[in-house]
Amino acid sequence: MRLILLGAPGAGKGTQAEMLTELFHIPIISTGNMFRAHLSQGTELGIKAKTYMDEGKLVPDELTIEIVKDRIVKDDCKNGIIFDGFPRTIAQAQALDDLLKELDITLDKVIDVEVPDEEIVTRMSGRTVCSGCGTPYHNQFKIEKVKGSCDNCNSELVQRDDDKEETVKKRLKIYHEQTQPLIDYYNAQGKLVEIDGIGSVSSINLRVKKALGVE
Ligand code: AP5
Ligand code: MG
Repeated sequence: MRLILLGAPGAGKGTQAEMLTELFHIPIISTGNMFRAHLSQGTELGIKAKTYMDEGKLVPDELTIEIVKDRIVKDDCKNGIIFDGFPRTIAQAQALDDLLKELDITLDKVIDVEVPDEEIVTRMSGRTVCSGCGTPYHNQFKIEKVKGSCDNCNSELVQRDDDKEETVKKRLKIYHEQTQPLIDYYNAQGKLVEIDGIGSVSSINLRVKKALGVE
């Protein structure tokens, strides 16, 4: 199974990706999580990416495509991949098409998780993420078992620097301008399934599984 989770910032891509990786035992390629991991290790790439992320802007395509290129050829990607937050521009989608073709891999589905902008701002203000594995939590909608630590790996939960309201609004604007066109792009390929992203985490998971034909 190879799928892309498409949707605005805060639509719930990361939350659903974590549930799907457990179900299918295939890795998640989240460019956002990869940039944050680089930053926590203090790499040059991480420091460069942070300057864009903190402003709510997209990291340039060349850098983003490069890290996906390196990741996609790893052994654990042979049986399937969940793309979360990649691609985000038409140029990235075209680069991914070329990359998959080279590797003789086909993309099965692109799931677009639809959530209105007003709801997104509420979600982001309550979000924390695991500093170890990147799993997202929410102080109302997805509460961790032990306060402040991750259910999966016990690392500390932290607030993301780009979750300030002003930055979230900027990220939404950029999403509408640069990422939303991917809906038409994948619709034209006959791979797009749109699902309503409003509802409980488990009800959305059911919609995702139905879209994938596994429920
Ligand atoms: P990235 O980390 O990908 O952030 P994003 O796409 O903005 O998405 P989020 O992680 O904010 O949201 P999500 O959809 O994963 O939602 P989540 O499940 O956490 O990217 C960060 C930055 O990196 C970008 O701004 C950019 O600068 C750079 N970048 C990354 N990829 C790039 C690329 N390809 N090209 C260029 N630059 C790139 O859920 C949100 C919250 O809501 C959580 O608290 C969650 O618990 C809660 N929640 C989830 N589901 C529900 C529900 N059903 N009901 C209520 N609450 C819910
Ligand atoms: Mg995410």
